[in-house]
Amino acid sequence: MTEASAPALQQSLFLKACRREKTDRTPIWLMRQAGRYMKEYREIRARMPFIELCKDSDLAAEVTVHAAHTLGVDAAIIFSDILMLVEPLGFELSYGKDQGPRIANPFRSSADLARVRPVQPHDSMSYVFDAVRKTRRALRENVPLIGFAGAPFTMASYVIEGGGSKNFIETKRLLYADPAAFGALLEKITTATIDYVNGQAAAGAQAIQIFDSWVGALSPDDFRRHVLPHTRRLIAGITPGVPTIYFGTQTNGLFPMLRDLGANVIGVDWRVELDAAWTALGDVAIQGNLDPVVLFGTEAEVRSQVRRVLRQAGGRPGHIFNLGHGVLPETPVENVLALIDEVKGA
Ligand code: CP3
Repeated sequence: MTEASAPALQQSLFLKACRREKTDRTPIWLMRQAGRYMKEYREIRARMPFIELCKDSDLAAEVTVHAAHTLGVDAAIIFSDILMLVEPLGFELSYGKDQGPRIANPFRSSADLARVRPVQPHDSMSYVFDAVRKTRRALRENVPLIGFAGAPFTMASYVIEGGGSKNFIETKRLLYADPAAFGALLEKITTATIDYVNGQAAAGAQAIQIFDSWVGALSPDDFRRHVLPHTRRLIAGITPGVPTIYFGTQTNGLFPMLRDLGANVIGVDWRVELDAAWTALGDVAIQGNLDPVVLFGTEAEVRSQVRRVLRQAGGRPGHIFNLGHGVLPETPVENVLALIDEVKGA
């Protein structure tokens, strides 16, 4: 039997919820659960740059496993970054001190298409597959491992802007001025991403999350015409039987179209009531949706907001508790532990 099909894993709370089966309690994990809010992570980072840490499969596995076991969450996520895939695509990636990712040679026009390379993940991303194998081996047998990648739009926004963005002016400028070049870029990213996430599944990841963090910047019409077909192709290309989670923020206006993506689980943020999201999204599992900034409040407030989210889920099968976006760097660890304790005790 392969590890991925082991009964303890397949009967885990998280994978049952992905399949919308009834569970004894609501499973919980947290986006960015391994990171700077943890002292142990900061100590490792003091010794080496972020990209180096991602490429060291032993340390990457250690960071994932330490976070998952310390927190007692119901799933772990590979320690990496959505942007690692831009390097083999031909972009120069760096992370400055506290200023986020930078790409030195951004994509700005159809002339740049020629330098976007096809990716052979088994060569260029083998360090991630090694980390998946090592992490899977070290995790408890009932804790599923989530592999991940960025969605085509969110990845394109980084390589076009050259970093993070508020208004996505360069991304939209290209989309409106040369939709064919924009489409060709998304197509190349999508093809590379399919092979990349399937390589993670083959190495031992039990589920795949697609992060579309910035998709909420698009109008519904632009999303439908220029982005949805690529995202749907990505999800359709994922190995059958591997549950897929599609996560975005500020997606309320896109809900009717997200039903067509083919994902098993949809992640929603806190800007929407969980039960309203579920009604709009229909027959899917739902992941979310506590505001990560609630964790900066009192413990009593954290616990009361957890109960509110659980009330909204209303005991429907297929709720995976999570934040509406990742854990923020300055978050008090005690409140993260209180959040998890409240979900588990409910
Ligand atoms: O437990 C985990 O979830 C860790 C694995 C993980 C990281 N990044 C590690 C990371 C995951 C799943 C990501 C996804 C990611 N990366 C997304 C999607 C999720 C989201 O937050 O929207 C995005 C947009 C990125 C791009 C990115 N990487 C940014 C904008 C930044 C800088 C800002 C920040 O949050 O730090 C990063 C760096 C990054 N990725 C760090 C970590 C732990 C911090 C690096 C450091 O140690 O200095």
